[in-house]
Amino acid sequence: MNRVYIKTYGCQMNVRDSEAVAVMLRGRGYRITEKEEEADIVLLNTCSVRDQAEQKAIGKGGYLSRRKRANPRFILGIMGCMAQNRGAELFDRLPDLDLVVGTQRFHHVPDYLDRLTAERAPGAPRPSTILDLEEEEGSQDTIRGHDEDTRRVSAFVSIMQGCNMSCAFCIVPKTRGSERSRSIEEITAEVEELVAGGTREVTLLGQIVTSYGRGVIPPLDGKSAFVQLIERLHDIPGLARIRFTSPHPRGFNRDLAEAYGYLPKLCPYVHLPLQSGSDRMLKAMNRPYSRQKYLEIVESLRAVTPGMYFSTDIIVGFPGETEDDFAQTRSLFEEVGYDMAYIFKYSIRSGTPAAGLPDQIPDEVKEERNQVLLKLLSESSRRRNQSLLHSEQEVLVEGPARKGNLYHGRTPGNRVVLFPASERLVGELVPVRVNRVTVSSLYGELALAGVDAAVG
Ligand code: SAH
Ligand code: F3S
Repeated sequence: MNRVYIKTYGCQMNVRDSEAVAVMLRGRGYRITEKEEEADIVLLNTCSVRDQAEQKAIGKGGYLSRRKRANPRFILGIMGCMAQNRGAELFDRLPDLDLVVGTQRFHHVPDYLDRLTAERAPGAPRPSTILDLEEEEGSQDTIRGHDEDTRRVSAFVSIMQGCNMSCAFCIVPKTRGSERSRSIEEITAEVEELVAGGTREVTLLGQIVTSYGRGVIPPLDGKSAFVQLIERLHDIPGLARIRFTSPHPRGFNRDLAEAYGYLPKLCPYVHLPLQSGSDRMLKAMNRPYSRQKYLEIVESLRAVTPGMYFSTDIIVGFPGETEDDFAQTRSLFEEVGYDMAYIFKYSIRSGTPAAGLPDQIPDEVKEERNQVLLKLLSESSRRRNQSLLHSEQEVLVEGPARKGNLYHGRTPGNRVVLFPASERLVGELVPVRVNRVTVSSLYGELALAGVDAAVG
């Protein structure tokens, strides 16, 4: 009665939180299963950024409740952002729910499951439910454990939690609380352990990593705490690549752009959320930068690394967005020529300043604008991939691809490459000659005779 299935919605931070919870549960004797149907306990780790994400999790919860009627010992829990955002209300929506745990209390999940399981043993008194949305100092340090069994070549490392900005559309400051950073020592120790276990690449995670350590770790030689952290990790032998997500344009200063010039492990791929290319909309969104400032950051990065890859987040259909505002977004989008982008249709989040704004944009218009940007993205992504045809790329081999007998890996620019390889190359950096491209992937062959021979 102790098989747990964890379903994760939303961002990489959630993926990381779920992994940490799985490790804690394993340590307590629970078994983590990949099969929802055989689980005795299902935990939904949820997202609140858009309504659709919440509806999906609620739908899933409703579906799972039926299982509970057939088996009263089955346990259903909701963790993460929607738990924090909606709290007790979830028990009304899902009367069969047993557990609701907020974003700062993941590390209490093993205790709670122990209690819930004991209460559901035959002959036990009437079972209770648990709701825990406390804020907890130091909770940022509890997302630390990595799964020994599925040690990955590339790992996520949470460096901070929360966000102190107040973008008018965003629920995250409510669900994740205020900024709390882990220490450079803590993070370094975690990455050193990962590298000792075979990890070669880390992605540093936070809602706003450019605010890392702000007010706690003072700047040193003109370098922000975040750059100090990257420099420290860069010194770890055996670590090959460093990535991070997400920075904020406001905190993307010269020290960080310059770091790309002297830290070769820092991958030339920057996810830099734009949201809108219209100054009027940026102001309405309470995003403290201008179109011009954003372009200056892009240029400063291209000055250091001419082939820099860019990715972004855009919201289309923010209240009051006119055709002219959208044309501004569109032109900036074309000017940067993104390699990747996440385009979102504005979703009303109750409790955020934008929720009450007049001039909500009809869904058809949002969809139309969405399609325009998606088309531009696929063109610029294809252009980039075409420019890589016949080039040689340094690829970090991650593992066997899902289909065929190919292996997959990524280039420094985060392009997925598929190529024939062998298990013993997993975790290695290998040169791959690109011989075919699609909009989303590259195909190729190992480019070194020596490496070829090793494949055998
Ligand atoms: N800084 C965080 C942002 C979290 S939300 C990070 O990148 O991790 C991720 C993205 O979702 C935002 O950048 C924004 O583009 C989008 N988003 C946030 N609130 C939204 C809303 N109400 N409607 C549509 N998209 C939204
Ligand atoms: Fe959300 Fe803006 Fe922070 S998008 S996570 S409030 S920087």
